[in-house]
Amino acid sequence: MCGIIGIASNKPVSINIINSLKKLEYRGYDSAGLATLKDNIINEKKCSGRVEELEKILFKTPSNGNIGIGHVRWATHGIPNIVNAHPHSSEQVSVVHNGIIENSDEIKKDLESKGIKFKSQTDTEVVTLLITEALKASKPLESVFKTLKKLKGSFALGIIFKNFSNIIIGARRGSPLAVGYSKNENYIGSDSYALKSMTNKISYLDDGELCVLTKDEVSFYDSRLKKVNKKILTMSENEGSTDKGEYKHFMIKEIVEQPLTVKNCIDEYVDSLKKNINIVNFPIEPQKINKIILIGCGTAYNSCLTAKYWFEELTSIDVEIDIASEFRYRKIKFNSNNLYIFVSQSGETADTAAALDICKKNNVKTCSIVNVIESTIARNSDWVLPIHAGIEIGVASTKAFLGQLTVLYILCLKLAFIRKDIDGNNYVKNIINLKKLPEAIKTCLKSESNIQLMAKEFVSAKGSMFLGRGSSYPIALEGALKLKELSYLHAEGYPAGEMKHGPLALIEEGLPVIVIAPKDKYFEKTISNMQEVIARGGKIIFITDNKKESLNENIRFGLRVPHVDNFLSPVLLTLPLQMLAYHVALLKNCDVDKPRNLAKSVTVE
Ligand code: M6R
Repeated sequence: MCGIIGIASNKPVSINIINSLKKLEYRGYDSAGLATLKDNIINEKKCSGRVEELEKILFKTPSNGNIGIGHVRWATHGIPNIVNAHPHSSEQVSVVHNGIIENSDEIKKDLESKGIKFKSQTDTEVVTLLITEALKASKPLESVFKTLKKLKGSFALGIIFKNFSNIIIGARRGSPLAVGYSKNENYIGSDSYALKSMTNKISYLDDGELCVLTKDEVSFYDSRLKKVNKKILTMSENEGSTDKGEYKHFMIKEIVEQPLTVKNCIDEYVDSLKKNINIVNFPIEPQKINKIILIGCGTAYNSCLTAKYWFEELTSIDVEIDIASEFRYRKIKFNSNNLYIFVSQSGETADTAAALDICKKNNVKTCSIVNVIESTIARNSDWVLPIHAGIEIGVASTKAFLGQLTVLYILCLKLAFIRKDIDGNNYVKNIINLKKLPEAIKTCLKSESNIQLMAKEFVSAKGSMFLGRGSSYPIALEGALKLKELSYLHAEGYPAGEMKHGPLALIEEGLPVIVIAPKDKYFEKTISNMQEVIARGGKIIFITDNKKESLNENIRFGLRVPHVDNFLSPVLLTLPLQMLAYHVALLKNCDVDKPRNLAKSVTVE
C-alpha cells in the first residue's frame, strides 16, 4: 500500500509534504517520513506511527530544502518501526517506495556478498543501494533505469539525489503514480487526491514509465528510456468535504451522509420526469450480453454478491462473482460476449486492477463501478459508472458500499428493461421505489441510540455470528466484515441455512448472533434457523423489516428497519450493522477511522 509524495519547488517543501502525507494516510499509517535536500545534504526525518508524530518532529527540528520526498507506510517487509520507515537513504540518494520488490532477497544477498551493508529489513533498501552503486558510473536517470531492469514486482518510486539537487525521479511498474503541475512547482504523488490542494493539473505515468521533475518542467520516458509526451488532465472538483465537521470520526460522518450520497447517485442516473434510467454506451449491446462477471475485494465483493441476487431475479443474464485476488490467478475461459464488471471504491485496489488488466489482455469488454473517477481502474476500463459518493476517508467502507449497491441495482434494472426481462410497468414501479430509498435510509439512522445499547453486548463477547439468507447473506458478510475490521472481534457471516453443516458447533451460551431476516421468501426459513441457534444458547439480535413479527423473549434485541421493496431491503439492513460496528469499536476504544493493520487503499497484492 503506502503513499508517496515528491515536490520540486522554488520554496521550502516540508510543510506541503506533511500536508500531502496527511491526505495519503488512508494508504497506510504504520510509519511516516520525509527527506529534503539542501546544500547537497539529504536531511531525513522519520517516525513510527502517524504523520502527526512526524509533524511534531519537524516542528522541533525543521527541515529546509526546496526539493523533497515523503512517505506513509503500510508494512510489508519488516516490522513498523523507525528503521524500516521510508525514505531509505544512502550518502547519495533517498528513496520512497510503494509496492513490493519481489526479488529483494536475491538482490540483497548479491549486494551483501560485495560487502554492502543494509540497515533495514525492507525490500526498498535494495533500490537505494542499487541506485547508489549505479551512480558510480552513470547519471541519475540511467542509474534508475539500470536499477529498474533488475527489479521484479509491482512498485512506484520517488527518488532524490545528493549531487543533483534540482531533480526528483519518479518511476512506476504496477503501482500508480501521478504527476502534478503548478507555477514554479511540480509534484509526484501516489494519487491525484494527495496533490489536489496544490494543483488540479495532472498526468498519470503509464506502466513502465519514468519521469524527471524539476520545479520548472517534467519530462517523461517510456520503459526503453525514449522520451514521451503526456496529456495534462484537469481534475474534477471534490464531491464532498474532507473534514469531519461536527462528527467525531469520518466513519460516522460517512454513515450519516448516506441518504444524501444515495440520493445524489440516483439523481445522476435516473430521469425522474420520464421515469427512465440514463445509462448509455454499453460496451456490448445489452441483448447480446451472455454473462456478467462481477469482481471486487472486501466490501466491494459483498456488493457484487448482493447484485448477483438482483441480476438473477430481474434479468435473464447469467451472473458470476469473483474475488479479484482469486480471479487474477485462475485459468478463466474468457468470452467476448461476457461483460466483466469491476467494483472498487478507490479504483486503486491492486488485485482488482490486475484482474482488469487480465481481462484487457484477453480482449473482453470491461466496466468499472468506482468512486474515484480519476483512478487507475476507471482509466483502464472500457466503460465507467461512477457511484458519486464523494470522498470516503474512513478505512471501513460505508457510503461507498451503498453507492455500489445503488449503481448495481440501477444497472440491473436498465438491463432487465432493455432486454425485455421486465415490462415497462415493472420498470417504472422499481424506479419509483428506488427514489424512496434515501428517505428510508434517513429513518434507519434514527435507531442509533438502540444500536448503542446493542453494542454493549459485544464488548466482552468472545466472537459473533451474522446470519442471513438470499440477498441478506451478503449483508451478513458485510456486517461481520465491518465488526471484525473495526473492533477486532471475531465475526463470521454465514448463510443461515449453512449453520447445521458445521458453524452451529460454535454456538454457546451468550454468543451474540445477529439474524438478518427481512420479510421475503426466505423469512420463515431464517426464523427456523434462528430457533436452532436459540436452542443452543445463542444471544439473538434480530433485524427485520417485518412489522408483524413480534419480538419474543428469546430475542435479546430486536430492531426494525422500514419496510421497502424486497430488492432494496439489503441496502436498509446494512445501516444498523454499520452503526453497530462503529459503536462496538468506540466502546472498545479502537481507532475507528484507522483500524490496526489496515489501509484504505490496498495497492499491494
Ligand atoms: O477500494 P476498494 O473498494 O477496491 O477496496 C476493497 C476493499 O479493500 C475494501 O472494501 C475493504 O474491504 C474495506 N476496508 C472494508 O470496509
